[in-house]
Amino acid sequence: MDTTLEVSGLHKTFGEHKAVDGVSFTLAPGGSLGIVGESGCGKTTTARMLVGLATPDSGSIRIGGRERAAKTRNRGERLAGAREIQMVFQDPYLSLDPRIAVDACIDEVLRLHFSLTKDQRARRVTELLEQVGLGERESTALPKALSGGQRQRVAIARALAAEPKVLILDEAVAALDVSIQAQILELLSGIRRDAGVGFLFVSHDLAVVRHVTDDVVVLRGGRVVEAGTTVEVLTRPQHPYTRLLLDSVPRVGWDPARIAADRRALGAAGAVGALGTARAAGAVGTVEPGSSVEPEG
Ligand SMILES: Nc1ncnc2c1ncn2[C@@H]1O[C@H](COP(=O)(O)OP(=O)(O)O)[C@@H](O)[C@H]1O
Ligand SMILES: [Mg+2]
Repeated sequence: MDTTLEVSGLHKTFGEHKAVDGVSFTLAPGGSLGIVGESGCGKTTTARMLVGLATPDSGSIRIGGRERAAKTRNRGERLAGAREIQMVFQDPYLSLDPRIAVDACIDEVLRLHFSLTKDQRARRVTELLEQVGLGERESTALPKALSGGQRQRVAIARALAAEPKVLILDEAVAALDVSIQAQILELLSGIRRDAGVGFLFVSHDLAVVRHVTDDVVVLRGGRVVEAGTTVEVLTRPQHPYTRLLLDSVPRVGWDPARIAADRRALGAAGAVGALGTARAAGAVGTVEPGSSVEPEG
């Protein structure tokens, strides 16, 4: 099997609003795919459907070639499904239970998914904490005694405890100081190398995505407007929206007024693909038939 995760034609509507409008992409085993786009473009909704926190209106999610059926499963199947894809959320202050110590929080996951003895679990907890750079002192601490970076390390260890095939990181470093961001990104690179887990890296931050992904899909208004290797998309963006995202990153010579004007022009052009073509189909992302973006070749 040469793909771990295969997402095809995913749709989710809230009322009249199409939050996710025909999103497709694939993730190779141990690969790292970025999902980028501005706030509100449907990144988190996509992620939530993958982990089963939201039900797609239509579309398919396959992992290791098997469909992740949403409803008809018994507890065993649901658990097995939950194990396969784990998610780390943006806010480490909200994602950990304030009443549960670090070691107990990871032990909980081990008890849920594996039949291990108490001693085996304790050893595994130590191992997992070591893997994310935490030691004995943090092990018995409550979340409130930890820094933001440490809490995010705990959240990563807890996700890894389930031995997932895919780890979704939804803006997982966005709430952290830049120096801590760098440490967590470094940690994640190491984990990807050692654990062979596939990453789905959801971020509005192109600099972050550049460092930790091989491939990228660009979402706008719930649709994939561009897809390709990260290097290709970030150095030779084909779609005006991707160019705009890149231009929006503050740097020397940055011109917010021109970016605002470009944005108005892009908005005035209406439909997503009116100003350009997506580097679609093939590699990692596809654009749904019927969308206004014409895949090349
Ligand atoms: N539970 C919900 N109910 C109604 N609208 C929602 C809900 N979740 C997300 N949305 C809307 O769907 C769109 C996409 O949201 P989201 O996936 O969170 O975007 P992103 O993560 O890219 O910022 C937004 O317009 C958001 O307001
Ligand atoms: Mg989000």
